[in-house]
Amino acid sequence: MKVLVIGQGGREHALAWKLAAAESVTDVFCAPGNAGMATVGSCVPLPSDDIPALVSFAREQSIDLTVVGPEVPLVNGLVDAFQAAGLRAFGPSKQAAALEGSKAFAKEIMRRGNVPTADHVVLETLEEAQTFLQDREDQSWVVKADGLAAGKGVIMCDDRIQALEAVRHILVEDAFGNAGKQVVIEETLVGQEASILALVDGNTIVALESSQDHKRAGDGDTGPNTGGMGAYSPAPLVTPELMSDIERNVLVPTVHAMKLAGCPFQGLLYAGLMITNQGPRVLEFNVRFGDPEAQPVLLRLRSDLGEVLLAAADGRLAEFGPLEWDPRPSVCVVMASDGYPEKYQTGHPIQGLDQAAALPDVEVFHAGTTAADGQVLTSGGRVLGITALGDDHSDAKRRAYEAVKCIRWEGAWCRKDISDKVRQP
Ligand code: AMP
Ligand code: GLY
Repeated sequence: MKVLVIGQGGREHALAWKLAAAESVTDVFCAPGNAGMATVGSCVPLPSDDIPALVSFAREQSIDLTVVGPEVPLVNGLVDAFQAAGLRAFGPSKQAAALEGSKAFAKEIMRRGNVPTADHVVLETLEEAQTFLQDREDQSWVVKADGLAAGKGVIMCDDRIQALEAVRHILVEDAFGNAGKQVVIEETLVGQEASILALVDGNTIVALESSQDHKRAGDGDTGPNTGGMGAYSPAPLVTPELMSDIERNVLVPTVHAMKLAGCPFQGLLYAGLMITNQGPRVLEFNVRFGDPEAQPVLLRLRSDLGEVLLAAADGRLAEFGPLEWDPRPSVCVVMASDGYPEKYQTGHPIQGLDQAAALPDVEVFHAGTTAADGQVLTSGGRVLGITALGDDHSDAKRRAYEAVKCIRWEGAWCRKDISDKVRQP
């Protein structure tokens, strides 16, 4: 079958790489792709948010299955447009993508499904926030813009004054534009985070192996938030018992509540969880693979990704046996541009990619790269996701960092402690 992968980051490279290796897949196209994706498929210069152009391309090329990486085209109705054109796409409809596109909607679905999450309120004015905060004990709060804000819409606040300031930033100063017409104020949860990604076909749920992201820029989880500086899979914190708990109390009721709400969920459901002393609590839902979680998770997948995504898109997941996994853990270290997550430069030539890729059980996933005159240049903040398998997490970490050492460009940096949390219960 012919597949089209939409997007240009590390997650999309991992998807395109795994699809290219699948027996069921004959051709991989990437729109727009990156220098790494160009080595596993044919890149076409169509931006991931140009829905009409993507529909025309998929029609002309008779694409059998389109796999959408980023959330923006999903929230904007890409899958609906593909379906209306008689094309098959893996991912939720516009209505179902609101699970990520509106935190207020996600909270409402969780309320209906009795899914454990932080206590919260949804507010539309500063006055409402003032009254709410005034009537409560002074404590730490998390203030969130309702809509998509490229990962920046979550503000951690130590007290009521900071919380009110955050609300003002979102509602009055319009820091996130339309994404900030409503705010969610919620209690701060304490624990370790884990990401559970699951394939869903509207009814049937197939959870993937667990993973853990590293969102902060600095070692020891310090510094500003980023898109994710590394990840590993599995997350040993998620024991088989905890996984059953998450399936029973988070995934199943969420998928059921979506069906009852008239927007059945088809695609990848990502539950971002805080594992608290009281059990798992949902921090957020995403409606697509995590980046960088997809890299270590897909490196471990042995099943044919094309077949299983096709089955999900066609509502046939129940026919599928359990997925097959490499039992070895994997670790992904993100290499970033100097300055990221703030302003950074691009256009630096990258050296050592071949040496790194030649190491056994290592895959170099490109996130922000472009090819020019036979060179690979940096073109983003997160540039590469060096991902390795090992006998255990520390072996996978050692292999990943060995590969990192092969790679150089001006200003390259990475966190040095990816997966160290595995040893802290
Ligand atoms: P979100 O986009 O909602 O997942 O938030 C991004 C990050 O903010 C999460 O990965 C957590 O690290 C943090 N976060 C969000 N909500 C909470 C909460 N209620 N308590 C503690 N941390 C949170
Ligand atoms: N790694 C976090 C995300 O994909 O949203």
